[in-house]
Amino acid sequence: MSDKKVTRIGVLTSGGDAPGMNAAIRAVVRTGLYNNLEMFGVMRGYSGMIENDIQPMESRSVANIIQRGGTVLKTARCKDFFEPEGRQKAYDNLKSRGINGLVVIGGDGSFKGALKFSKEFDIPCIGLPGTIDKDIAGSDFTIGFDTAVNTAIEAIDKIRDTADAHDRLFIIEVMGRDAGYIALHSGLATGAEHIIIPERKTDIEDVISSLQEKERRKKLVNMIVVAEGGETGGAEGIKNIIKQRLPATDTRICILGHIQRGGSPSCIDRLNASRMGYHAVESLLVGRHNVMVGIVNNRMHYTPLEKAVKAKQRISDEWIKMVRILAS
Ligand code: ADP
Ligand code: F6P
Repeated sequence: MSDKKVTRIGVLTSGGDAPGMNAAIRAVVRTGLYNNLEMFGVMRGYSGMIENDIQPMESRSVANIIQRGGTVLKTARCKDFFEPEGRQKAYDNLKSRGINGLVVIGGDGSFKGALKFSKEFDIPCIGLPGTIDKDIAGSDFTIGFDTAVNTAIEAIDKIRDTADAHDRLFIIEVMGRDAGYIALHSGLATGAEHIIIPERKTDIEDVISSLQEKERRKKLVNMIVVAEGGETGGAEGIKNIIKQRLPATDTRICILGHIQRGGSPSCIDRLNASRMGYHAVESLLVGRHNVMVGIVNNRMHYTPLEKAVKAKQRISDEWIKMVRILAS
């Protein structure tokens, strides 16, 4: 806890955008204004801090955005923030406006930046987990995951219709360079026969023999949901192996890509983003500094940024087992 009074807060979105970021921005700005604080929007993540692209925010600045995907503050990946000179520039710009508190909405990379910044300078930072990947420990939810996974299941359900009509094998690639949550949740929710994620070594022989066994019992419609990252090389990689090993199998791939990042946020994402945004400002006001605000068991949960950047959300073996049993 710190007793330094926060009076002017900057808010930014950084890294990959996620549906619900706007709801979080709105909650941060309006909670700050309610508490008579001055609020500022930093454009394009840490780039706006370095380039002094910072705007005062009023209540009307965040009107009509709760339902919109993307982020009105725009987002970016900013190389200069990795360098001490870049962070110094960012600090000087915040300082010149009297900004003495920062809310960073982003993924673990953005939190790494916030942690460094908060250690080097006297500006406390609060992180809000904003990523469709859900790969952040210390929160049952990340802003954007629920919407992304619902977008994925809507698409996968449609693909199953056409797979069924043609008796085809479909390999569907979802997002997740290092994280398999979208694959796991969307695969389980759509009854996928196999799910391939970066966190687990894929036994491709097991996938092949299972497909052969299904062919023997004339179960020709099969769905494999694969995360984009990992050793197997996404949908293309799996397709190539299947083509070699089971040349007679009628196989198609579908890469869902960035449609998973866009669109109007789900109710869950809007609510969680609003709760997290509200508690980000409350945290700054009560001196609970340099933490990530999360939700665990439906209660607010605060993880020191130091810990949040190290811990990864783990995938339980039971989930993997369940996928197998339910899709047999
Ligand atoms: P995400 O927040 O979605 O994980 P990135 O990993 O791309 O996205 O990180 C977003 C931005 O956060 C980076 O472009 C950079 O500006 C900042 N950042 C990430 N890691 C660090 C770090 N180790 N030191 C300083 N800044 C960092
Ligand atoms: O962080 C979310 C994420 O969607 C990852 O799953 C994905 O690999 C990455 O962002 C792609 O980001 P971009 O296309 O913006 O480089």
